[in-house]
Amino acid sequence: MSVVYLNGEYLPLDQAKISVMDRGFLFADGVYEVIPAYGGLLLRMQEHMQRLQNSLDAIRLQNPLSNQQWQEIIEKLLSDNPNAGPGEDKYVYLQVTRGVAAKRNHGFPEEIKQTVFVMVNELPPVDKDELRAGVAAITLDDIRWKACNVKSISLLGNILLRQQAHDNNSAEAILINEGLVTEGAASNVFAVFDGVMVTPPTGSRLLPGITRDLVIELAAGNNIPYEERDFTEQELLTASEIWFTSSTKEILPVVELNGKPVANGQSGPIWEKMIDIYQAYKVKLRSGETS
Ligand code: PDD
Repeated sequence: MSVVYLNGEYLPLDQAKISVMDRGFLFADGVYEVIPAYGGLLLRMQEHMQRLQNSLDAIRLQNPLSNQQWQEIIEKLLSDNPNAGPGEDKYVYLQVTRGVAAKRNHGFPEEIKQTVFVMVNELPPVDKDELRAGVAAITLDDIRWKACNVKSISLLGNILLRQQAHDNNSAEAILINEGLVTEGAASNVFAVFDGVMVTPPTGSRLLPGITRDLVIELAAGNNIPYEERDFTEQELLTASEIWFTSSTKEILPVVELNGKPVANGQSGPIWEKMIDIYQAYKVKLRSGETS
């Protein structure tokens, strides 16, 4: 049984309980983060803490903990949960809600004590050959709200879109907002056009993925040409490569789009380069050389 953190206490998962009056439960009034930990070391912790702060600011909720306190809680959970084997890879899920109010009212309660929950889960090792096989994706109309940059726990749009992809034998959806590609249901999207790696710019239409930013940084440092610019669904259909990025999936090639092969139906040479660079970065992280 894993140990989790809930409002100041470390508890076995089955003893961690919250009130039905929690605004996370009643309104999905909260935000979250997912942070990978390789060999016990957190990937881009500072960036995740900054994005958490941005999400909290956007929903007008105070950060209940300092970065130092977040770090201590997460490190304790990583060492208290050897279920995946000490030093193996895990991901941290943390969530902050606006807490428990006496009555169900849409407006904010006056006295606020945030609910804070943190757990760690196993992050299965990424097998490059398995990744290389790639996945199928479909394009779907982006039915979500206008603040997709906030990592909100209100994920109904995302889960309906992901399920629609599954119902169509696809691993993930590529979302289209007024003709433009935004992101996946739980990932960012990259495409390759004429040898240039392209991803949509950040803004309110998509989550600023930490993996996305790292992939861009690694491309810049390794002379892989890239652009952050919008592209249409029509242009996407001409891509020689398409990938999804996320903390849990890393860089996942899309080999089939809307039932048709992407280029020759195999993962492409730029993905091949990028995944090696990404794995090399993880090796550096594990040895403490980077964060
Ligand atoms: N989701 N866009 C959306 C809508 C996401 O939900 C995610 C990640 C991303 C990628 O962000 P990052 O690289 O920081 O993981 C983009 C996480 C993994 C989840 O909800 O489980």
